[in-house]
Amino acid sequence: MNERLNTIDTSRLPQHIAVIMDGNGRWAKQRGLDRTFGHKEGANTVRRILRECGRLGIPYLTLYAFSTENWNRPKAEVDALMSLLVSALHDELPQLMENQVRLNVIGNLEDLPLPCRQGLDDAIRQTSANTRITLTLALSYSGRSELKNCMKKIAEKIENQELSSKEISDEIILQNLYTHALPDPDILIRTGGEQRVSNFLLWQIAYAELFFSPILWPDFSEEHLRDIIIQYQSRERRFGKTSEQINASKQ
Ligand code: FPP
Repeated sequence: MNERLNTIDTSRLPQHIAVIMDGNGRWAKQRGLDRTFGHKEGANTVRRILRECGRLGIPYLTLYAFSTENWNRPKAEVDALMSLLVSALHDELPQLMENQVRLNVIGNLEDLPLPCRQGLDDAIRQTSANTRITLTLALSYSGRSELKNCMKKIAEKIENQELSSKEISDEIILQNLYTHALPDPDILIRTGGEQRVSNFLLWQIAYAELFFSPILWPDFSEEHLRDIIIQYQSRERRFGKTSEQINASKQ
């Protein structure tokens, strides 16, 4: 067994890791290839990182696969990404079943092309009883549009007198987010060297530990992931409290 794996404390694993998978385009460009090759290689990284999370026992992995802003990319690249998604869903389904992966999606799904929606619906249905790890793909996703959508739903409930404004709580907000069935991420990783959150899970990352890796997503390995988990376990998460309070609550 890898030595580094031994240094991960399996009793304090993060429950939810969210990833902004950046750097596919640059990875391809560095090799004189079309950007779509970078996305294909990025899909291989998805497979490796998903397998590693399953192996470690991390129950939730959420990946920023396509933002609402990504619709502004050249049509050929958008089309290639959508086809890659459809073929990956089809090809990976047996593996998802074998590894007990439950597929989930968040985002403005009505924007996606029909074959993509059908592929997703099919994979979500077939994997719905799997229990090892929930893989959530954020597709045509924007944190601000998720929050707008949440506010509209709550406002409608108030208009219909199903809810009063005094009852709005973190719990009510969570119930009206796309991520209502997921715990908040403990870790947010962004690969590719940029240090920003780019409209991803804005409500949910309030207390997430942030990790910015210079590694381009196609080169991001299981070992890079394990290094981040080890660093995460050495950080003290205080949720606004003092160190003393945190230590006292552990005793
Ligand atoms: C960002 O890199 C990556 C994306 C916009 C797409 C992510 C998609 C995949 C990893 C592949 C498909 C996913 C699944 C789930 C099968 P970039 O193109 O912005 O890279 P750059 O910053 O170097 O240009």
